[in-house]
Amino acid sequence: MTELVDLRSDTVTRPTLGMREAMAAAEVGDDVYGEDPTVNALEAEVAALFGHEAALFAPSGSMANQIALQLLVPPGEELLCDADAHVVTYEIGAAAAYGGISSRTWPAVGADIDPEVVARMIRPDGYFAVPTRAIAVEQTHNRGGGGVIPLATLRELRGVADDAGVALHCDGARIWHAHVADGVSLTEYGRLFDTLSVCLSKGLGAPVGSLVVGSAEKIERARMIRKRMGGGMRQAGILAAAGRYALAHHVDRLAEDHARAALLAGAVAPFGVLATTVRTNLVPLDLTKHALDARALAAAAREEGVLISVLGPRTARLVTHLGLDDDAATRAATALTRILAA
Ligand SMILES: Cc1ncc(COP(=O)(O)O)c(C=O)c1O
Repeated sequence: MTELVDLRSDTVTRPTLGMREAMAAAEVGDDVYGEDPTVNALEAEVAALFGHEAALFAPSGSMANQIALQLLVPPGEELLCDADAHVVTYEIGAAAAYGGISSRTWPAVGADIDPEVVARMIRPDGYFAVPTRAIAVEQTHNRGGGGVIPLATLRELRGVADDAGVALHCDGARIWHAHVADGVSLTEYGRLFDTLSVCLSKGLGAPVGSLVVGSAEKIERARMIRKRMGGGMRQAGILAAAGRYALAHHVDRLAEDHARAALLAGAVAPFGVLATTVRTNLVPLDLTKHALDARALAAAAREEGVLISVLGPRTARLVTHLGLDDDAATRAATALTRILAA
């Protein structure tokens, strides 16, 4: 039987042999005591990549985001982000539930942010209104179809944040893809944000792990918040080793995932179902004008050995990742073309 082509998410990857060997060989210690040399090395490496003083290993991207938000926004005060942001869409109300944070959103525009719209939303200090303390953006933008926020927009947003005295956070679960797609260095991105969360377990293919990146003072506080949230891990070097391996071997290859996503986008575009221009590894589908709805498309694709994500009645998504080669991408493109043409 031919293998299934799994295009549901870049979180479905399994550790490669080289990664498993690195995990097996990892030196470990108790990380809650700060004694795991592999975790310490990963944290130092990621901090340096983004030009920040420190970083903290966390079990998930959601926890890394929520730790960062709690660092930046005191209870009862406000975070601004877009209506489709992961932090307000898929983190199950964590900012409110754990941080007492009030969130307000600008209309969902994916990576096409207008810094002036954001600037107009900022509320100043005072007892009569909820004061804005932080702005969060997502690079690349998940529900925005893997869109990349241009460097110039981020610089403008930094200016907006500085003028208002508020912090800027980046949900950088897929910032590696933005770095590869736009050629902007990670240090350049790092310089623009007070905090970043970055994921090792998506495009980079590690089984577990994200980091919060920021100043030494913030990361010291982040360590307390992580422990409070139950995220203190013990011999986590086994996992950090996978992350270090991923950073060494799986960043540049993201260009292959982008090329395979472009191939899939090219195959479905003639049927009028491509939701937006594809820049990275996500291919968002809008089936409003097609005879098939998202469930019907997913069911037909499954029959052909291709798994895709259903995001809404008429929206679906294809994602390329480390677990796919050119042959798998071509097979999926052929199958989807056949189904959409029927
Ligand atoms: C943009 C973005 N941020 C954060 C996360 C959360 O990561 P995790 O699933 O590790 O909590 C995801 C997960 O897909 C994501 O796409």
